[in-house]
Amino acid sequence: MKVPLLDLKPQYQLLKKEIDEAVQRVIESQYFIMGPDIALLESEIARYLNCKYAVGVSSGTDALLLALMAVNIKPEDEVIVPTYSFFATAGVVARLNAKPVFVDVDPVTFNIDPALVESKITSKTKAIIPVHLYGQSAEMDSLTALAEKYKLRIIEDCAQAIGAQYKDGRFVGTIGDIGCFSFFPSKNLGGFGDGGIVTTNNEELYHTLKIMRVHGMEPKYYHKVIGGNFRLDSLQAAVLRVKLPHLDSWSAKRRENAAAYTKYLTGAGLAETEGNILFDAKNKVLLPKAVFQGTGHKNYHIFNQYIIRVQKRDSILDFLRKKEIGCEIYYPVPFHRQECFSYLKNNDGEFPNSNFASENSLALPIYPELSDEQIKYVVDSISEFMKVKFG
Ligand SMILES: Cc1ncc(COP(=O)(O)O)c(C=O)c1O
Repeated sequence: MKVPLLDLKPQYQLLKKEIDEAVQRVIESQYFIMGPDIALLESEIARYLNCKYAVGVSSGTDALLLALMAVNIKPEDEVIVPTYSFFATAGVVARLNAKPVFVDVDPVTFNIDPALVESKITSKTKAIIPVHLYGQSAEMDSLTALAEKYKLRIIEDCAQAIGAQYKDGRFVGTIGDIGCFSFFPSKNLGGFGDGGIVTTNNEELYHTLKIMRVHGMEPKYYHKVIGGNFRLDSLQAAVLRVKLPHLDSWSAKRRENAAAYTKYLTGAGLAETEGNILFDAKNKVLLPKAVFQGTGHKNYHIFNQYIIRVQKRDSILDFLRKKEIGCEIYYPVPFHRQECFSYLKNNDGEFPNSNFASENSLALPIYPELSDEQIKYVVDSISEFMKVKFG
């Protein structure tokens, strides 16, 4: 049986008529840049997330870059980021000639460990970028408190987490100063190419974000500040507007799939199910912690990725791929180990949980249309591997 890591075709088939019509409508209008779908998508996303403002942008990476520019990050400034994330989180800081300051992650959620942040704050620190990794909110209360105490900005990296809620029920992207989302096709809300959006409740920041999206221009050909071309395409906005009403049901289906994995993995005696456990020899597979949060809990994980922790990760990856099961490593190299950041001279021993995550984590297929048989097949295959390797 084939189980791809992601299959986007069923989603397109479901909405083909509406999407084709929406795309055709934009083509007929020839309004490709900043057409009416942009403002409509922005207000629909702002309403969905219950925040005041949203500004469509060219990608999740550009959302982060624009956000940092809007809060005036300058060369020599320091910005605190988790060392374990997709490259863009730290890359955008370095692109502004500011210094990314790495912090280790929590061993269970793989999100930034807030307890380690304060000791990294210096007089040069200007912002923190928590990442809501895999679709689960980072621990925001302590970060917000630190930001208030030291007058720092919080730029939320919500690229993987549209629709995820923090434990108090707020949507991620509405807690810090600016939320940054990606519409990369593999995200829970994915476009037909690159795209992103930034959100804020701050009117002044909204205005800055809007003009910086178009080279800092206002009015036309007059530039008060330096921005860039960070515009979202009208075609992407039109596609995303068709998809947005389905986002919640797709994320709910991902959560059901995650619960099914948990049931089958624990049923097969492969998974540890309790508490804040760290990997050990007895526990061959560890599951994402959010799976065990009781009903009614508001830390709403939208499972852009379903990550298990396994021994012999690389051999299991090969084994599953040979069985035509798509799986992936997010991410094999934390920032402090990346060659391009060697100039920062970080001490590898400071980041044990991120090192562990990069060596032991494995993403399994979790997309909404996955069938129960496919999930069972993945678990049976993991079971088969474990029997051979561990007896
Ligand atoms: C955590 C994180 N941040 C930023 C990005 C960048 O988004 P994009 O690919 O839309 O530029 C991604 C995309 O994969 C991501 O996962």
